[in-house]
Amino acid sequence: MVPLLDRKLLFVTGKGGVGKSTIAASLALLAAEQGKKTLVCEVDAKGNLADFYEAGETSFAARELQPNLWAMSMNTEESLKEYLSLQLKIPFVAKIGPIARTFDFIANAAPGVKEILTIGKLTYEVRERNYDLVIVDSVASGHIVGQLTAPTGINELVQVGLVRNQTQWMMDILNDPAQTGVVIVSAPEEMPVAETIELAQRLDAETDIDLAAVIVNRVLPELFTEREEALFEAMRTPRKIDAISKAVGGAVKPVFDAAELAVTLRRTRAGHLATLREGLDPMLPMMFVPYLFTRTHGARATRRVAELLGEEL
Ligand SMILES: Nc1ncnc2c1ncn2[C@@H]1O[C@H](COP(=O)(O)OP(=O)(O)O)[C@@H](O)[C@H]1O
Ligand SMILES: [Mg+2]
Repeated sequence: MVPLLDRKLLFVTGKGGVGKSTIAASLALLAAEQGKKTLVCEVDAKGNLADFYEAGETSFAARELQPNLWAMSMNTEESLKEYLSLQLKIPFVAKIGPIARTFDFIANAAPGVKEILTIGKLTYEVRERNYDLVIVDSVASGHIVGQLTAPTGINELVQVGLVRNQTQWMMDILNDPAQTGVVIVSAPEEMPVAETIELAQRLDAETDIDLAAVIVNRVLPELFTEREEALFEAMRTPRKIDAISKAVGGAVKPVFDAAELAVTLRRTRAGHLATLREGLDPMLPMMFVPYLFTRTHGARATRRVAELLGEEL
């Protein structure tokens, strides 16, 4: 099994809002600080990756935010222009203006065109060895399989030599577990767990792309151990609560209610974690990122999560 950050291309996905951007940004920071030249790319046009570093906007042209850490935002039209000027050796971008103008028409008419331009750009950066590691703040679980299998789809659709040659190398990179992996971000909650298990099964059944790890985000600290839970249960009779209230000179019922909430949360979240573990290949690496009770966005939070991930890796 290849260590996570020793791969070349990582797609970070998961249910919307689960912490994909947080984890992608933090993994990229961690890799950069380990000395790897790292590109982090957000795929969502309405994304907010720049906020996670507080280092200015990102665009299609990658920009070095700090030593070894480069960031960009995907733009499929820019990707097409770059492809045409690089691959087909069309010298001046100006000359392909008319082609670009028909881009929206083509992209919307043919399924997989936008996906292939996204995947094409990312795998191109890997093929050219422009970076040691490319981390993608990817689309949500429901769309990732379609995006990752676009080259296969086009390959099967178009048997013509030129197009086949243009997608085969992408598939060679995507399907090589030494180079490419998917990271699913999950959380100890019902829906994220269900989506994670479903996606793991789909990746296995519908693609040849390796699931590299599951990162469980927003894990609550152990507020109560099992032994403390037992103590708490023993104390929680009306008579004892009454006696303790008298002894301390104030109503302690609200304190017990709060403790009960903590116990319930721990139990339900532990249950969801157990469901997740059971639903996944036992060999699959799982990492845990605690729930942050401090400010949860911005450069400091990204750094904190990077440190925590560094301890797990
Ligand atoms: N470990 C964590 N603890 C607390 N809040 C978190 C944690 N990770 C992410 N968040 C918060 O959850 C929200 C969604 O995170 P984000 O990374 O933007 O998710 P996604 O990219 O999957 O939509 C943000 O407000 C973020 O600050
Ligand atoms: Mg996001």
